Amino acid sequence: MSEVGTSGYAEAYASWRADPSAFWGAAAQSLEWSKAPEKMFDPEAGVYGRWFPDAVGNICHNALDRHVAAGRGDQAALIYDSPVTGAKRTLTYAQLLKEVSTLGAVLQDLGVGKGDRVLIYMPMVPEAIGAMLACARIGAIHSVVFGGFAAKELATRIEDAEPKVILAASCGIEPNRVVAYKPLLDLAISMSAVKPQRCLVLQRPEGPGALTEGRDLDWAVACAAAADAGKSAPCADMAATDPLYILYTSGTTGKPKGVVRDVGGYMVALDWSMKNLYGIAPGEVFWTASDIGWVVGHSYIVYGPLIHGATTLVYEGKPVGTPDPGAFWRVIEEHKVVALFTAPTALRAIKKEDPDCLLKQGRDLSRFRTLFLAGERADPDTVIWAQQQLKVPVVDHWWQTETGWAIAANPVGLGLLPTKLGSPTVPMPGYDVEIVDEAAKPVPAGTMGSIVVKLPLPPGCLPTLWQQDDRFAEGYLADYPGYYKTSDAGFLDDDGYVFVMGRTDDIINVAGHRLSTGGMEEVLASHPDVAECAVIGVKDELKGEVPCGFVVLKAGERRAPDVIEKELVGLVRDRIGPVAAFKLAVTVNRLPKTRSGKILRGTMKKIADHDEWSVPATIDDAGVLEEIEDVLKARGIA
Ligand code: COA
Ligand code: AMP
Repeated sequence: MSEVGTSGYAEAYASWRADPSAFWGAAAQSLEWSKAPEKMFDPEAGVYGRWFPDAVGNICHNALDRHVAAGRGDQAALIYDSPVTGAKRTLTYAQLLKEVSTLGAVLQDLGVGKGDRVLIYMPMVPEAIGAMLACARIGAIHSVVFGGFAAKELATRIEDAEPKVILAASCGIEPNRVVAYKPLLDLAISMSAVKPQRCLVLQRPEGPGALTEGRDLDWAVACAAAADAGKSAPCADMAATDPLYILYTSGTTGKPKGVVRDVGGYMVALDWSMKNLYGIAPGEVFWTASDIGWVVGHSYIVYGPLIHGATTLVYEGKPVGTPDPGAFWRVIEEHKVVALFTAPTALRAIKKEDPDCLLKQGRDLSRFRTLFLAGERADPDTVIWAQQQLKVPVVDHWWQTETGWAIAANPVGLGLLPTKLGSPTVPMPGYDVEIVDEAAKPVPAGTMGSIVVKLPLPPGCLPTLWQQDDRFAEGYLADYPGYYKTSDAGFLDDDGYVFVMGRTDDIINVAGHRLSTGGMEEVLASHPDVAECAVIGVKDELKGEVPCGFVVLKAGERRAPDVIEKELVGLVRDRIGPVAAFKLAVTVNRLPKTRSGKILRGTMKKIADHDEWSVPATIDDAGVLEEIEDVLKARGIA
C-alpha cells in the first residue's frame, strides 16, 4: 500500500449511505432540467425502481446548449486526432452544437421522432459523436454498433432495435487495411427481417461506398442542404426515465443483450463521476482511448466530458503501429491532455514494443495528471510499469456495460486512497458491494465469491434490457434476491477494497473487448463437419485472453482437420467479426466431460494456461485430459 493524502471518500460514501435520495438529489442540481426532480427515486416503478421519475430534461442540452449559453461557445468541445488518415480537427462547443442541431433536423426530416431507434455504425470520427448527440437532442434512441463486428452481428442488432434510420460511414480505417463498412451494412440489411427506411452515409475519401437509390442519402449533401435552409432541431423534452440509448453487449448465448440507458440518471451519474472520480475541471482535455462502440466510449468519449464542459479527445488510431508506440505520448503532449483512460491491453502493447518508453523522452507531459485503466483486470506488472514510466497515479476502475460508470474506483476528485495492486479500490457511492456464496450468503473478508450489488442500482445503471424486462430480471436479479449479479467473481479485503478476479459465466475479455464463448461455440457447431465443440479463453500476453476452440469432428470421410480448422477460423471472423480474434481451432478426439455430460472447460483452461490442474472427481476417464494436454503441447499452447 502506498500512502496518499487525506481523501473525502469515506465522507462521501457515508453521506450516500445515510440518504441516497439526498445524495443524488444534490448531484442532480449541477444539471439543467426543464422540470427539476422533486421525487428522487420511485421504488415501485420499473423492474427495481427508477431514478428521477418526475424530472424532465435533455442530455444534449446539458452537453452542448447550456455550455454555449454559459459562455463556453468558443472552447474546444472535441479534438479529433486521426493518425490513420492524418486528419486533425477541433470543434468548439458552438460549432458542435450547430452540427448536431443541423443533423437533428435532417433526422427529423427523415421522419425520426421521439422514441424512434437510430442505429449508428461508424468509426471514430467527429460525425459519429455528433450523430449520438443529434439523436439524444430529438429524443431518438441511438444504438451504436462497433465497427469490428461482422454483418451477421449487425443484422441481429438491426432486428432487435428495429431502427427507422441507420447512420453509417462508408469505411473505417485499420492500420493494415480500409474496412469497407458500406458493403457490410448492405449485407446486414439484406440478412435482417427488419429494414430501415433510410440510411445516411458519411462518404469518406479513403473508401466511399455505393449508395442504394431510394434508401441511402449522402450525409454531407443532406446536412449542407439543411444548413442552407436554416434548419435546426431544438432539444426535445425527455422524461428522465426515457431511454437514451440501447447498447448491445455479449451475453451467454449468441444473442446479444440490449442494455438500456436512461436520460436523467445517466447524466447525473456521469457529471458526478467526472468531478469526483476523474477529478476533471471544465475546460480540461480528457482523453478516453476507446471506441464509441463500447460503453467506455459512450460514457467517457461522448457524454461525460461534454456534460461536464471538458474537451473530449477523439482518437482514430491504435496505441502502437499508428505510427509507433509513442503515439499516446505525442497526443498527450500535443493536445494538453490531463487524464487518459485506456485498457491495460493498450499499455501492454506499448510496453512490448517500447519497454523503456524511449519514445516518451523529450515529450512535455507536464499537464498529464492521471492514467485510468478499465475494461479488464489491471495486472500488477502493467500497473507497475505504467507507474514507473509515467510517474502519475495509475487508477484501475471496474465497471460493466450494464452499469454505465464505475462500480469500484479510486476517486481522484475526492482525494486518492492508498492503492493496492490488483484492486480497483473501493465501491463508489451508490454501490453497496457484497460477496456471496452460491447460497447467496455473505462470505467473510478475503474469501472469494460472487460479487453482487444491493438493489437499487445507482443512477446511470441499466433499468432493464431493451423490451426484455423478464430477461433482465431472470439474468441479473433472480439468483440473489435483492441484489444485482455482476457475474464477476472476487473478494473484499479487510479494508473494504474490492478485488475482481474473473467472470463466473462464459464471457471472456479479449483486448478489453467483451465476447461470448457461447456465441463462438454456436458458430463452430454450425459447421457441417463439427460434431461437438467447446471454446475457452486462454491466457495471452498482449490481449489478456484469446479464444481457443476445441472441436470433435464427425466420423466418416471428410477433409483434413487442418483444412476444417482454417474454415472454422474464417467462419467466426465472418459471423462474429475480426474483433473476436479467433485464430485457434484445435481438433481433438473427444472432449473431457463430467459423468453428467458437462464439458470441463475450467480444467481445459488450466491446462492451456500452464496452471496446475488435477483430475476432477466427476470424470471417469482421466486420459481424455492428457490427450488435450498433448494436443495443446504439440501446438505450442500448453
Ligand atoms: N473496425 C473494423 N475492424 C476492427 C475494428 C474496427 N473498429 N477494431 C478492430 N478491428 C479488427 C482489427 O483490425 C483486427 O483485425 P485483424 O485480425 O485483421 O488484425 C481485429 O479486429 C482485432 O483487433 P484489435 O483487438 O484492435 O487487436 P489488434 O491486434 O489489432 O491490436 C491492441 C491490439 C492491444 C493494440 C488493441 O486491441 C487495442 O488498442 N486495444 C484497446 C482496446 C480498448 O480500447 N478497449 C475498449 C475497452 S476500454
Ligand atoms: P464490458 O461490459 O465490456 O465493460 O465488460 C465488463 C467486464 O469486464 C466486467 O464484468 C469484468 O469482467 C471486466 N472488467 C472491466 N473492468 C475491469 C477491471 N478494472 N478489473 C477487472 N475486471 C474488469
